[in-house]
Amino acid sequence: MSFSEPSVSDVSRETSAAPETSDTPLGDQAAVDAARQLRLRDKQFPRPGSNRVIAVANQKGGVGKTSTAVNLAAALARGGLRVLVIDIDPQGNASTALGVEHHSEVVSVYDVLLGGQAMADGIVQCQTNPNLWCLPATIDLSGAEIELVNQPKREYRLHEAIGDLRRYLRRTGKPQLDYVIIDCPPSLGLLTLNAFVGAKEVLIPIQCEYYALEGLSQLLRTIDLVRDSLNPELSVSAILLTMYDARTNLARDVVAEVGQHFPNQVMRSTIPRSVRIAEAPGFGQTVIDYDPNSTGALAYMEAALELAEQVGGNYG
Ligand SMILES: Nc1ncnc2c1ncn2[C@@H]1O[C@H](COP(=O)(O)OP(=O)(O)O)[C@@H](O)[C@H]1O
Ligand SMILES: [Mg+2]
Repeated sequence: MSFSEPSVSDVSRETSAAPETSDTPLGDQAAVDAARQLRLRDKQFPRPGSNRVIAVANQKGGVGKTSTAVNLAAALARGGLRVLVIDIDPQGNASTALGVEHHSEVVSVYDVLLGGQAMADGIVQCQTNPNLWCLPATIDLSGAEIELVNQPKREYRLHEAIGDLRRYLRRTGKPQLDYVIIDCPPSLGLLTLNAFVGAKEVLIPIQCEYYALEGLSQLLRTIDLVRDSLNPELSVSAILLTMYDARTNLARDVVAEVGQHFPNQVMRSTIPRSVRIAEAPGFGQTVIDYDPNSTGALAYMEAALELAEQVGGNYG
């Protein structure tokens, strides 16, 4: 975890007085969650026609990008789909949350982007789920924005590496991946640009707080620019509201405002503020493995199912 984030114990102290989801008394919440567990139990998620590459992006830090990337990925994998998480944030938080080593000796996304290494050489299977893989990020990646500047085809490196991986899987008779989920850094630099060129879809997590939509127009403008110049297939396929606290008017206002601006993209599922979600990375786990019956895990399972059921991989 980075120094700027609260430690697990801070988060627990801050939120442990509140139930996991917050508009329902505890007993009622348990009944609601029991019904959700039943609905989700042994659910096989639909396999996409061809693999979906989704960049989880928002240039704001701390909005839930990494939590969303790893927990959606783990939920899709638990639903029977083959999922790769590419950690393209130098902080390596997604690698941590997936329990994957990311010290400087391991083959990482840096070696793929700047060292000519094949993605297949760096991908690691997660211990908790045989359907889930991760290409980790190491501290080397922190210099990559600058190192990439003078490289040829600097925006296309991830795109080409993903294409190479597809061809490698075909050549070696291995099954293709169903989902590639890219956890972006909190900026709109060359790393995020590589994710936007490598992906077809962008999923934007929005934290339910003041100024939730601040910066969103810049993000959407960047996506438009990428679509016009580098990747005509790119679209925003989903907006996910995170750290939702239904007790507050503020959260309800954010939901209403986002729904008004993006009626076709905003997901029905929302992710509640949840101590379990915040604790899980400290154990090198996703919340799906750490506490699969918690309200937070159920919310990510439902969001993953909703994503998987999107017709043609797109809303609207
Ligand atoms: N739904 C949630 N409830 C409580 N804490 C959360 C939730 N989602 C994320 N967090 C915590 O908030 C912090 C920022 O989340 P993170 O997913 O790392 O955001 P980002 O990748 O956008 O910086 C982390 O400490 C994380 O554990
Ligand atoms: Mg992150």
